[in-house]
Amino acid sequence: MKYPDLELSSFFMWSNRPRIMFGPGIRSEIGFEMNALGGKKVVIITDKGIVNAGVAGMVVKEIEKSELELVGIFDSIVQDARIDIINQGAAFYREKGADCMVVVGGGSVMDSAKGINILIGEGADDFQPLADRAALWDDAKPLPPHIVFPTTAGTASEITHAIIALDVNARVKLQITHPYNADIAMLDPELTVKLPPKITAFTGMDALTHAIEGVTSTSVSPIGDALGLHAIRLIFKYLPMAVNEPENIDARGHMLIASTLAGMCFGNTMTGAVHATAHALGAHYGIPHGLANGIMLPVVMEFNVEEAADRYMMVADAMGINVDGMEPIEAARAAVQGVKNLKKEIGLTERLKDLGVPDDREKLMPTVELAGADSQISYNPRYAEEEDILNLYLKAL
Ligand SMILES: [Fe+2]
Repeated sequence: MKYPDLELSSFFMWSNRPRIMFGPGIRSEIGFEMNALGGKKVVIITDKGIVNAGVAGMVVKEIEKSELELVGIFDSIVQDARIDIINQGAAFYREKGADCMVVVGGGSVMDSAKGINILIGEGADDFQPLADRAALWDDAKPLPPHIVFPTTAGTASEITHAIIALDVNARVKLQITHPYNADIAMLDPELTVKLPPKITAFTGMDALTHAIEGVTSTSVSPIGDALGLHAIRLIFKYLPMAVNEPENIDARGHMLIASTLAGMCFGNTMTGAVHATAHALGAHYGIPHGLANGIMLPVVMEFNVEEAADRYMMVADAMGINVDGMEPIEAARAAVQGVKNLKKEIGLTERLKDLGVPDDREKLMPTVELAGADSQISYNPRYAEEEDILNLYLKAL
């Protein structure tokens, strides 16, 4: 594909944290790396599913072989990071006399752990006032040592600065950012092979959405393009493989890398209307984030197709579609079809009506308003008014 005539960015900045270490079995480095960070007494932050699947145990084994002391396992995280559970986690950390954390889990676990570490670093015990401030960059101090093992290839919370926390009472998803995320993200594909095909598909669609929204947002950058487009290449090749052959370490490894690349991309360039509408669906109907993204992605792309045609052409090219000789708009439509085909290949057939979302304009309005107030909507390449957001939901029913 000949590179399209894209406008030169007038400004961008890029944040690079944490250090990334990749490798099947890389968890064996935990003792050396945590020691180098100054941590000695470890609390593991995880959830019961990860413990019962034996995945937390794979990390515990390596901690036990090292000079680190495991002082406790906090496994009370549930779907979505929640302020009450973040507070409980910080109390647990202090009670056990920990001085560092090892995190083993998916997005909800990783986001909760970031919140817990902020509370520890700030010497606070209630996350609500910090969450209300949303951005904690002005007076942030470095936090205690924090190493994270993602067990899903999707949310990329191991790499981003954001915490998406559910405010259970207000039914909204809060977004909080802090400059000190994890110190090291250890990408060990052996920890992801037990992930069931459905969750692999949902989380993979989250990663794909990060990459596509990250290279088409209103704050794109050349670094983001490099990362996001390569993530798309990897996801189109390896997501069907990871879904159909869960034990395939090669596919799992490539998906972990793709998820991290997409996270580095959108963590700096932001997302768009897919994430805004998905956050609201998660808050009001409890739809898992990756599934909500997977449903909304082709619908939002169709809405954006003219405004983002040049960029969707690069997306189509990264998907492996031969766009030579195509007009940008034609290639952009092929990219939308490419997403639909991938969804079929990984068995993601759900629609909003299957998940309790009502086919009723009136009843949908609170969700429309919540999506309209989500910070990510402002990064969508096409301006979306409330009527547009309503139509996006109606199309996805
Ligand atoms: Fe996401």
